[in-house]
Amino acid sequence: MKDIFRLDGKVAVVMGGAGGIGKALATGISRYGAKAVIASRNMEALKKAAEDIGKETGGEITPLTADVTDEGSMERLVQAVLKKHGTVDILVNAMGLNIKRDAFDYPMEDWDKIFNINVKGTMIACKHFGRVMKEKKQGKIINVSSVREVRGYTGGNAGYCATKGAVGMITKTLALEWAPYNIHVNAIGPSLIITPGTIHIQQNPELAEKYKAAVPLGKLGQPQDCVGATIFLASPASDFITGQTIFIDGGLTAS
Ligand SMILES: NC(=O)c1ccc[n+]([C@@H]2O[C@H](COP(=O)([O-])OP(=O)(O)OC[C@H]3O[C@@H](n4cnc5c(N)ncnc54)[C@H](OP(=O)(O)O)[C@@H]3O)[C@@H](O)[C@H]2O)c1
Repeated sequence: MKDIFRLDGKVAVVMGGAGGIGKALATGISRYGAKAVIASRNMEALKKAAEDIGKETGGEITPLTADVTDEGSMERLVQAVLKKHGTVDILVNAMGLNIKRDAFDYPMEDWDKIFNINVKGTMIACKHFGRVMKEKKQGKIINVSSVREVRGYTGGNAGYCATKGAVGMITKTLALEWAPYNIHVNAIGPSLIITPGTIHIQQNPELAEKYKAAVPLGKLGQPQDCVGATIFLASPASDFITGQTIFIDGGLTAS
């Protein structure tokens, strides 16, 4: 039996591929055999990530700049990927933003910023890469959602939770609309993952204990914990699965 998790010969685009979670996902995808394009706004960060990933996996990693909120920029990214690799098989939307604000004073410009990146950006990336996948009648899209897709949270997270609820519904709806084209649309839903943006939690023993206590498996998630489910959803192993969010949360959403 062939290895149903391998991605050899595939071309994958990881939006936010230099970020805390995105870099781990791009590394895993590259290790499993795909050529990876990592894309976001900051070329310096992309170049550094591509170099690190290439050293670790020996795979081909291409850094390309793109702003996921800008349709023209994403159209140019699609054209650059097609020019370089001729096709795209896998799209991972690992970009994102959270701005925590008290709900009584929520500045709507911050609301718009997070909706622009998390919701509109997810739709724009799916739309532009989905068109390529429609032509070849094959594709795997993995949106990085969150446990906040189905679980509310205090601490100024009304906007963020709302965006992840929307990402969940984009995932389900595109899965239905694009099933006739054999485009699989799924999501992963991590709980807290330790990245440069959340490392202060791991570094503060009291805070770390508080977060661990809320997780049935009693530990903090690491970017590496998001890799297995992503490879599964990108690979032939998930060929009868679409419209699902796999929660990567140490059991948090089981209760
Ligand atoms: N860390 C967690 O605890 C956690 C838990 C659950 C879910 N998530 C989700 O996981 C995803 C990644 O989070 P992370 O913690 O890895 O964040 P991160 O380290 O801040 O990475 C975010 C990435 O998104 C890119 N990005 C932001 N705006 C963009 C835009 N307009 N166009 C293109 N790229 C853009 C950033 O690159 P540039 O700034 O260079 O563009 C960066 O590479 C997000 O969707 C987040 O909501 C995170």
